[in-house]
Amino acid sequence: MQAPKLHRESEMKRYRHYINGKWVESRGGAYFPVYDPSTEEIIAEVAEADAHDVDAAVRAARAAFDSGPWPQTTAQDRGRILFKLAEKIRQNAAMLAELEARNSGKPIVEAEFDIGDVATCFEYYGGLATKILGHVNPVPANALSLSLREPVGVAGQIIPWNYPLLMAAWKLAPALAAGCTCVLKPAEQTPLTALEMASWFEEVGLPPGVVNIVSGFGETAGAPLVHHADVDKIAFTGSAVVGKMIVKMASDTLKRVTLELGGKSPNIFFAEADWEAAVDGALFGVFINQGEVCSAGSRILVEKKIYSRFVEAMTEKAKRIRLGPPLERETKLGPLVRKGQYERVSSYLEVGKREAKLAIGGSRPKQIGRGYYVEPTIFYDVQNSARIAREEIFGPVAAVIPFDGEAEAIRIANDTPYGLAAAVWTRDIYKAFRVVKSLRAGIVWVNHMQPTYVEAPWGGYKQSGFGRELGPWGMEEYLETKQVFVNLDEQPIGWY
Ligand code: NAI
Ligand code: MG
Repeated sequence: MQAPKLHRESEMKRYRHYINGKWVESRGGAYFPVYDPSTEEIIAEVAEADAHDVDAAVRAARAAFDSGPWPQTTAQDRGRILFKLAEKIRQNAAMLAELEARNSGKPIVEAEFDIGDVATCFEYYGGLATKILGHVNPVPANALSLSLREPVGVAGQIIPWNYPLLMAAWKLAPALAAGCTCVLKPAEQTPLTALEMASWFEEVGLPPGVVNIVSGFGETAGAPLVHHADVDKIAFTGSAVVGKMIVKMASDTLKRVTLELGGKSPNIFFAEADWEAAVDGALFGVFINQGEVCSAGSRILVEKKIYSRFVEAMTEKAKRIRLGPPLERETKLGPLVRKGQYERVSSYLEVGKREAKLAIGGSRPKQIGRGYYVEPTIFYDVQNSARIAREEIFGPVAAVIPFDGEAEAIRIANDTPYGLAAAVWTRDIYKAFRVVKSLRAGIVWVNHMQPTYVEAPWGGYKQSGFGRELGPWGMEEYLETKQVFVNLDEQPIGWY
């Protein structure tokens, strides 16, 4: 497929659902618009699913799992298919990165990293497909007990808009490696790259029905997927509000659920930290991807000894962050994904101005006329009880909080309902590991923030969700355990 040229109305591309290996319209024929957040223009139209379309996708996935081709596909072949998909993604990386940047607003250089990670994710799980091992359990000698690992079944996968294709890969790759079939619902803001990827499914050897993609909105397409009796597991990444609803909805059919719900992650700076690296890391931790990052270091905890100087240095450096069109290579901060998110973040800017002091930013950039841009914003002297210190903003908004000593840093860091990630900056190795052990978070970085590797687990404590993605942990969530007992003793049981 060619790189979509989406500049002119006449070239606007229409995408349908991908169900059972075919491109299909919605039953009702409805389409919804997809935007370029830097221009506020519509760049594509995408078929809008309702419960009926979701049901068609689930039935295709069910059939491909129960009696279809996927159970006959060996682990080696599943791996090969994932390798081929990764290769296709690498060959088309420039097109995918451009489309991702255009649709999500993220800087092109970041989008290029994402697409590389997408391919790596499929490669990693392609390799892992042949390493699913069972156990021999140590029961007495007159029996043999085995634990077999089997795929959970049909996986419903609901993903967000901040890393569109990467979140699709994090969900699809481990599921397919495990032998599951999938119904993926991309975020309504950013379905395009996943749909482009679907155009290679047949060519790389994915049988019809193994991966189905239905686009649409949360209540009308996401919820029916969660309720569907033929879906065995839901994997969700998104807001805590919707995560809690999903747990309730899934209880009717007792589906397995895994959730990644973002957070309000502390980025902790001790006085002895490497100064340049620390200032850089504070900004990178919160402003990368416009702050639309589940693990954003949006609470910046700074030791009192360096606090004023640190806020000043952050502010000076933040002035140089290049805000601009996502497709320009110098851009370090693009627009927010969508009008709704822009309004949400803007309302937090007003809250912040009432709750704390503003060092820089606090509004839309005056020099840019259109697009959902928000200046990199730093609030300081923030109380940890403030809304901007407790609620996930998901925009380029930092809340800097002073602390006095290790114990207070740990107390403030853990004083949140969330627990996805945290980072600690110090040159004192004793202190670093004491703090690491005290933090209630699923991911803790030392002297860095945000690097993420497919080989290492990803997921949260507390209200940041449950379950882990990536690495062998990610595939584990798509596997059942079957205990097999084999009697080796030919005697009757002799009980009656
Ligand atoms: P959201 O949680 O509403 O959307 C995420 C996904 O869930 C989308 O695919 C959406 O269609 C789906 N969804 C929404 N309602 C649903 C429902 N009732 N049943 C099933 N699926 C449903 O997030 P939204 O509204 O786009 O963003 C709001 C806030 O959520 C952000 O400001 C941010 O704080 C947080 N968020 C966190 C993310 C993370 O990575 N943890 C990603 C996206 C948003
Ligand atoms: Mg929502």
